[in-house]
Amino acid sequence: MVASLLLHLLCCLTVFWLLLLPSLSADPDPLQDFCVANLSGSLSVNGFPCKPASEVTSDDFFFDGFMEEGNTTNRFASSLTPANVLTFPGLNTLGIAMNRVDIAPGGINPPHSHPRASEVGVVIEGKLLVGFVTTNNVFYSKVLTAGHMFIVPRGLVHFQLNVGEGKALAFTAFNSHLPGAAVVPLNLFASSIPNEVLTTTLQVDADVIDTIRSKFKS
Ligand SMILES: *[C@@H]1O[C@H](CO)[C@@H](O)[C@H](O)[C@H]1NC(C)=O
Ligand SMILES: *[C@@H]1O[C@H](CO)[C@@H](O)[C@H](O)[C@H]1NC(C)=O
Repeated sequence: MVASLLLHLLCCLTVFWLLLLPSLSADPDPLQDFCVANLSGSLSVNGFPCKPASEVTSDDFFFDGFMEEGNTTNRFASSLTPANVLTFPGLNTLGIAMNRVDIAPGGINPPHSHPRASEVGVVIEGKLLVGFVTTNNVFYSKVLTAGHMFIVPRGLVHFQLNVGEGKALAFTAFNSHLPGAAVVPLNLFASSIPNEVLTTTLQVDADVIDTIRSKFKS
């Protein structure tokens, strides 16, 4: 009798907690940098609207953009080919994406962060110095070769530098269909942030800022 009463109580408590849980959960993660409300709109914005199922074909679930080597003739001697919801719409709302990363000898995928995703990567070819910095400015890194994997916790600044003799190839994956990338040098020196912000922050003269900015003029 007492046992059955206890069981009943336990059961009620469990149901009570389950009912309570949703009200304790946070807002869903943002899927873009911002989304100003159109107060008269009726569209749901958790990703893009869906293509009618009757128009979906096999091609929607396959992507051949990783077959070609990226063009590394640029200032960072590296190339990023994204397979995210914008290039591969089948990923919409699935919370996953990947990048192909090609880096020429001496090239770099410069310090950047993904505001909406943690990252996991695998080196396929070459030799990469892979590292990230925590919010306490602790630096973690390792030199990786083919078959080595790495992870980058969400939002932390990280990079890959080709320290080998030949080209390097890696593939990365993200737990977002559009992870976003805030590239530190471009955020600071290719944006219209006022020079005064940079001279004051970096504690250098304006000519130093001008010199660095000139490197990032397209
Ligand atoms: C807001 O949504 C309404 C309804 O979909 C649409 O008619 C209107 O053009 C939208 N306004 C803007 C500024 O996009
Ligand atoms: C690679 O990019 C450079 C610079 O934009 C361009 O001049 C070159 O033609 C490209 N190479 C290929 C193979 O597309």
